[in-house]
Amino acid sequence: MTAAGNDPRYAARLRSALTDLLVTQGVIRDERVEAAFRAVPRHVFVPLVPLESAYTDDVVLMKRDEAGVAISSVSQPTVVAMMLEQADIRPGHRVLEIGSGGYNAALLKELVGPDGSVTTIDIDPDVVDRARVSLAEAGYPEVRVVWTDGEFGSPESAPYDRIVVTVTAWDIAPAWIDQLSANGRIVVPLRVRGQTRSIAFDLENGFLRSRSMTLCGFVNMQGAGANFERVVPIHGDKVELSIDEDQSIDAAALDGVLRQPRARAWSAVLMNREEPVSDLDLWLASTLPGYCVLTAGRSARKKGLVSPTPRWGASAIVAGGTLAYVTSRATADPDFVELGAIGHGPDAADLVERLTAQIQFWHHHHRHGPEPVLTIHPATTPTAELPAGHHIPNRHTRTTITWP
Ligand SMILES: C[S@@+](CC[C@H](N)C(=O)[O-])C[C@H]1O[C@@H](n2cnc3c(N)ncnc32)[C@H](O)[C@@H]1O
Repeated sequence: MTAAGNDPRYAARLRSALTDLLVTQGVIRDERVEAAFRAVPRHVFVPLVPLESAYTDDVVLMKRDEAGVAISSVSQPTVVAMMLEQADIRPGHRVLEIGSGGYNAALLKELVGPDGSVTTIDIDPDVVDRARVSLAEAGYPEVRVVWTDGEFGSPESAPYDRIVVTVTAWDIAPAWIDQLSANGRIVVPLRVRGQTRSIAFDLENGFLRSRSMTLCGFVNMQGAGANFERVVPIHGDKVELSIDEDQSIDAAALDGVLRQPRARAWSAVLMNREEPVSDLDLWLASTLPGYCVLTAGRSARKKGLVSPTPRWGASAIVAGGTLAYVTSRATADPDFVELGAIGHGPDAADLVERLTAQIQFWHHHHRHGPEPVLTIHPATTPTAELPAGHHIPNRHTRTTITWP
């Protein structure tokens, strides 16, 4: 701990300022969440960073793997607060946290109070040791810290009223549903077609229905539930298509596709440059067969080989040897761009029309409307028994995306 870290009054002032900021920004709305933020000394859980950094609204990276990929962190306060708001934790609740670190577990303990219980589990023994020591030092020795693969939950203390997952998952593990009490809630950063959203799901008659969702980012789940996107290179300069486990792309059919003439179509739909396109992307993923995400290295974009929007990963569709993806062009107003599509390959004209038609449909019917509802049923559920919508098969479940 730093010298300043030993000054509890200074730490309390910084903590108070951070909490004030989250309240002012509307991230914290529930006064019980606010009280928990005011109570838990975050600096105890990140002893190697300066006190000021412990109370900055930022993630604190704790560990990387051999390839340099982040595998453990103490999450950004904004994200922690947002997930606690989604979880709606009440005094007396029994809570399971999957993905440990200690800080969030301490907040959870504040929220459940003396009559509730918190179990936090992690696959990494170093994280477990650190969490145990920090929780004791911060005054939360009663939090149960367990070294195990979160895919299997922690049956010893089940059932749980709430399960809060703090690591990116691709699916809902059967153990989580088994260990959830009737009418319980799971809050989980779920990766769907290249985007991660923190989603609050309520258990209703054996299936899960989403109540709220917000875009977020977390480290990836390891262990039995690990499930990375597959990346299909289609050109040099790191031009790649990302797909999920249930999808496939015939890379050979796309060989040289970017050298074929371009087809373009424009949608007349304008977007503010600051406006996220994530909802549009989810709409396109739910409506267009052959959906994938196109990414490209800087050099590919500089050469004009591809012009994806957003530049870090655009919605795309593939049909056989044809590829089309979302792009944009400048408008008279420098704050706005017009969305469109670029395609290459034998059916390029058709695919860019399909993309722009869906951009227009989303704009007219969903852009400012309610968010979609995600439901999660066991994988064996026949399609006839699923809600209407777009169905995605996962290892253990079937996800349905329904747009109201
Ligand atoms: C973002 S950190 C958790 C942050 C923490 N909740 C906090 O209080 O700030 C994600 C954690 O998930 C853990 N993790 C990854 N895969 C896991 C798995 N299958 N089961 C349990 N923990 C896992 C990592 O070791 C890492 O410590």
